[in-house]
Amino acid sequence: MERPTRPRVFVTRQLPGDALARLAAQVSLRVWEEQLPPPREVLLAETREVEGLITLLTDRVDEPLLEGAPRLRAVSNVAVGYDNIDVAACTARRIPVGNTPGVLTETTADFAFALLMGLARRVAEADAYVRTGQWRTWEPGLLLGTDVHGATLGLVGLGAIGAAMARRARGFGMRVLYVNRRARPDLEAELGLTRVDKATLLAESDFVSLHVPLNVETRHWLGRADFAAMKPGALLVNTARGAVVDPAALAEALASGHLGGAALDVTEPEPLPLDSPLLKLPNVLLAPHIASASHATRGRMASMAVDNLLAALEGRKPPHCVNPELFT
Ligand code: GLV
Repeated sequence: MERPTRPRVFVTRQLPGDALARLAAQVSLRVWEEQLPPPREVLLAETREVEGLITLLTDRVDEPLLEGAPRLRAVSNVAVGYDNIDVAACTARRIPVGNTPGVLTETTADFAFALLMGLARRVAEADAYVRTGQWRTWEPGLLLGTDVHGATLGLVGLGAIGAAMARRARGFGMRVLYVNRRARPDLEAELGLTRVDKATLLAESDFVSLHVPLNVETRHWLGRADFAAMKPGALLVNTARGAVVDPAALAEALASGHLGGAALDVTEPEPLPLDSPLLKLPNVLLAPHIASASHATRGRMASMAVDNLLAALEGRKPPHCVNPELFT
């Protein structure tokens, strides 16, 4: 009997853990082995004949790619966000799209809180101060920061990661405000949060932390007028997507001193160019988009992405599917 041909799958990068070995046992696999993402023409060429595609947030899956990939039956993103994928175009072609929610919630909130603390208490500046030999004595006015306990935190978005951030903030005795499309009376009762409008959140928050997906409603959610409406000296934390913030308005707000500082795991663009004004400011704490980067979590994300892909290739609904209407 002839063995049925295995589905062909292209994966745009090596992934941590053993998920790809598991995938290789079931499909005909090609993996892009480089550190940098496959150039666009390579991605288009590699997807031409495949049934399945595993992508990262650096890989654009759009109409031209789908047009050139007539066999494609499954797209699986190794991320909770999927703004790199034209989901409507995938749905129109009846291609399920998977993502990796849940497994990265706590890890991402850990890092967002680490950035908040690091920015407030100037941890990176303090480290550089010691390393560069500037530490001469104990000084009463040295590297003074902002208290986290007792401060007001404004959460923009109260999904799973926003809620995990709220729990951490509660542990630090913070007052927590939030804006979200829908009210969360359950979390308000559990954690003592207050839902407010955008103007109130900006006016009253000592820290503003972003936890929304990037879409047409949230692109440049924080613009020039919004920064002006923030409390003077407030601190911004972004672990969502760089483009939720207007980068020119951010640079201006920091330069004017109205914004007290920013901790950014994500920027627009990524990576940040070396001539970015943000790199020159001591009150900006930067990270290379690593909020979900723990050994355990990145392994789970890879595993979940493989599960999503295999389900879709078998015609089943992926366990985490962003266009579940394909299966109703
Ligand atoms: C990372 O940014 C993700 O969306 O998982």
